[in-house]
Amino acid sequence: MKYTINNNIRASQINSDCLIIAIYQDQQYSIAAKDIDISANNTISDFLALGDFTGKLAETATLYSLPHIAAKRIILVGCGEKANFSAKAIEKATLAAAKALNTASNCASASSYLLDEVQDIPTALQQSVIQQAAATYQCNQYKSRAENKIALTDFSFAFTHSVSTPEQTALQYGQAIAKGMQLAKDLANAPGNICTPSYLASSADKLCQQYDSLSLEVLEESDMQTLGMGSFLSVSQGSEQAGKMIVMQYQGTDANAAPFALVGKGITFDTGGISLKPGAAMDEMKYDMGGAASVLGTIQACAEMNLAINVVAVIAAAENMPSSKACKPGDIVTSMSGQTIEILNTDAEGRLVLCDALTYVDKYQPDAIVDIATLTGACIVALGHHISGLMSNDNALADEILQAGKDSADEAWRLPMTEDYQDQLKSNFADIPNIGNDRSAGTITAACFLSRFVEGKKWAHLDIAGTAWKSGAAKGATGRPVPLLSQILINRAQS
Ligand code: BES
Ligand code: MN
Ligand code: ZN
Repeated sequence: MKYTINNNIRASQINSDCLIIAIYQDQQYSIAAKDIDISANNTISDFLALGDFTGKLAETATLYSLPHIAAKRIILVGCGEKANFSAKAIEKATLAAAKALNTASNCASASSYLLDEVQDIPTALQQSVIQQAAATYQCNQYKSRAENKIALTDFSFAFTHSVSTPEQTALQYGQAIAKGMQLAKDLANAPGNICTPSYLASSADKLCQQYDSLSLEVLEESDMQTLGMGSFLSVSQGSEQAGKMIVMQYQGTDANAAPFALVGKGITFDTGGISLKPGAAMDEMKYDMGGAASVLGTIQACAEMNLAINVVAVIAAAENMPSSKACKPGDIVTSMSGQTIEILNTDAEGRLVLCDALTYVDKYQPDAIVDIATLTGACIVALGHHISGLMSNDNALADEILQAGKDSADEAWRLPMTEDYQDQLKSNFADIPNIGNDRSAGTITAACFLSRFVEGKKWAHLDIAGTAWKSGAAKGATGRPVPLLSQILINRAQS
């Protein structure tokens, strides 16, 4: 999709397959609507006089072939109270317009005036590009015949006045983030028989070929053996698929500036291992590499935006399978940190691959480390699919992430991680068990486990089990938290 800004142009003059025009609450005209109405012999007023359309938020109506209007279709979008037309309301209107647009199957180009009169145009632009892109995302590559293919290829944000550099930057950032989300979705939607650890490594390689600012190193199982990553290897040993530790570096500033570290859980399929999961909805465990996917998407977005920051990304990629070679409950392994781990449940495998990645990333002396993982079902119970779980050993880093979440409308919520929770991790036979002593606070005890591998370092953990994926009729990856992670990097690059 091509996104552009169309400056200083009257709605009646735009030559597009479709115009998207705001009507506010109680049939209040936007500037663009008024212009169309005057040029088109009062067609809009005649339509509104029928009384079907009030301007209520997210209402839509499509009008065709208006006289003296260059555009072929017009989608009127209810935008609610004009004074309240910001963030959430803009999102609802944008998605409603996109839905109407998607049903116009021969519509290749569209121009939207929805942002013409909003307060903070740059913020709205960045978000709208992301929302528009999300609304047109389709995962068709595994279908022999794609149905209802969306025809739209050109989307412009039109303004009756003139916008300038901040708006152009916002458009560029929005597109970069949208592109990163699309990559994250493609990867997380890819089935486990295609998206293997090697596939993630070659996806990383593709990105590094594409952007000069990116470089790649992949640790093979033999390298990890040498490094003493016994915890990671205890997971990958059960699978025919070779585990990979994928390390990418983005350099956008001074080579010796400490990088920001992103560490992603890349379990390309989580059967649970010998502690086998129940069968229902197990297909969805193909997205257990959602953390890795969001790291790859964010690295791509970062490279697209050319941010003045250094980033190191580590992806712990493995498949969790039961087999005669798989680790068993009770097995004790030694992590790269030297700490021994008693594996009481082989389904708590994410923390086992992440802990060695967290130890390894220290080599790059990062300023701060954020890991991203579909780590616990308990996080879905706690926060649902709306907000990601955040746990951290550093208040400033936690606040920075919460703020970036608000800035990007991809929010996180902090959960506590006090000593009492740490006390739930006790093993009779090793330094630490891989699960808590009881089932309570499963999201927090998982974070407590990880915290043992980042002592003395600024670290935060995002549990995205709920936010990375939608179940039910709209089943599929969401591309989150690429917006949140990208915003952290944007904010850092600007400070
Ligand atoms: N990948 C799962 C967590 C998960 C569950 C993500 C459902 C998304 C949807 C993780 O590896 C896991 O199995 N966690 C266990 C931990 C338990 C054994 C302590 C869980 O949440 O049940
Ligand atoms: Mn698991
Ligand atoms: Zn898992």
